Amino acid sequence: MTATWLNQVFCEDALAGLARIPDGAIDLILTDPPYNLGKDYGNGSDQQTVDDYLQWTEQWIDAALPKLKPNGSLYIFLTWRFSPEIFVMLKKRMMMMNEIIWDRRVPSMGGSVRSYSSVHDTIGFFVRRKDYYFDLDAVRIPYDAETKKARTRSIFVGAKWLEVGYNPKDLWSVSRLHREHPERADHPTQKPLEIIERMVKASCPPDGVVLDLFMGSGTTAIAAKRTGRHYVGFELNPEYCAIINERLALPEIPAPPKKPKKPRNSITS
Ligand SMILES: C[S@@+](CC[C@H](N)C(=O)[O-])C[C@H]1O[C@@H](n2cnc3c(N)ncnc32)[C@H](O)[C@@H]1O
Repeated sequence: MTATWLNQVFCEDALAGLARIPDGAIDLILTDPPYNLGKDYGNGSDQQTVDDYLQWTEQWIDAALPKLKPNGSLYIFLTWRFSPEIFVMLKKRMMMMNEIIWDRRVPSMGGSVRSYSSVHDTIGFFVRRKDYYFDLDAVRIPYDAETKKARTRSIFVGAKWLEVGYNPKDLWSVSRLHREHPERADHPTQKPLEIIERMVKASCPPDGVVLDLFMGSGTTAIAAKRTGRHYVGFELNPEYCAIINERLALPEIPAPPKKPKKPRNSITS
């Protein structure tokens, strides 16, 4: 029998909703919480005092971690504002494997005048123990035709590394979603499927379950569906819940952009 909570996005507070999920049922927690930068999600979640925000963060972390399987992983999107504090919280509970920098490919126009313009998000990758699930082959990056051509000498022919592609690095250059992008929904901080799908493929086995406590426009659910994984999650704002349902009902979810020859808008590292 399929669990009643599986492949559902509940339009409710994540802290309350987590009680629906049994402990040890989740392969991957992939979550993009409010960054507390003052954005309006219609619920004040991004406009808390620093103390309240950090206390609330610790509360949901402690409620969510027991849901993970022992070989499970967690990815969390943050910015430099609170990643130091939140990474310390997580490091007391898990092993930190990476700090991934998402370069949003912001064009060089104007920006901050009394400091450097911030153009990246910070993503923490954490695991519970050393034998965590990680499928490197699912996320290798193919060498481009130019590199392959440059390696045509006999010593390179049949070289496995040239055929299988290279291991992703911790700097990911992917354009944020612009208004005209086919994937774009009406949510102020929607993340690109290209990024979320990479995390799902690497860190959740096929048929496994991904949990996102803060679904927004539902990108994690869609990435899970597109890659043959299950999902569960929560979203407080009913307007965003409607967007999630619309996106999930689409027969074809627009694919992430194909890589151009000289990558500008896609993962390059
Ligand atoms: C950064 S956005 C997530 C964006 C998402 N990754 C996407 O691609 O669309 C965070 C979301 O968390 C929601 N949220 C805030 N507090 C919440 C809570 N206690 N429970 C569930 N959702 C919450 C907000 O309404 C907002 O849509």
